[in-house]
Amino acid sequence: MKNPTRLAVLVAFAALGLGIIAAAAVLITGSPPQITATGGDIGGAFSLIDQKGRAVSDASLKGKPSIVFFGFTHCPEVCPTTLAEMSTVLDLLGGDADNVNTVFVSVDPECDTREMLGEYLTAFDPRIIGLTGTIEEINAVAKAYRVYFKKVALEGGDYTVDHTALVYLMDKEGKFVAPLPIAAGPEKAVDSIRKLL
Ligand code: NI
Repeated sequence: MKNPTRLAVLVAFAALGLGIIAAAAVLITGSPPQITATGGDIGGAFSLIDQKGRAVSDASLKGKPSIVFFGFTHCPEVCPTTLAEMSTVLDLLGGDADNVNTVFVSVDPECDTREMLGEYLTAFDPRIIGLTGTIEEINAVAKAYRVYFKKVALEGGDYTVDHTALVYLMDKEGKFVAPLPIAAGPEKAVDSIRKLL
């Protein structure tokens, strides 16, 4: 009787110790491990145009939190899935959706003209701002957001674009907060956004 109880107490203390170590690790790094390397300096100045031809910059997005996703209109799966999830999040936000910038930045600007973006985005929430620019402008914004993208040739002359599929949650000042936990379900994502409103 006595020994199992002591063992249980020891196990409990060991678990508590591990918990403290894990908590300390988070405190020291200030963020979950997957974003420690880049968490402090994601985002920055950019200047692009939206699907209606309006200029959009980091400065014009300030005053509202933003969710920012990079992709391309010919993406077979990840982009349409993510844009559909972002649309669900906007639905759930209700009236607060107007107080959030929801941004889709093309990493295939040679194909994704503003007209192409405009047509593509009609399949999703109309509040999603599609952004494109010159290849130099897209390279610059991708670098600022630490987004990887690479055009890959496919058989038959077609191509695809490998790209980072993270959705960035930025605060009202344009500072990176965390990846939007959209994979955990739209409600979690909505909670994270509401905290910044
Ligand atoms: Ni994609």
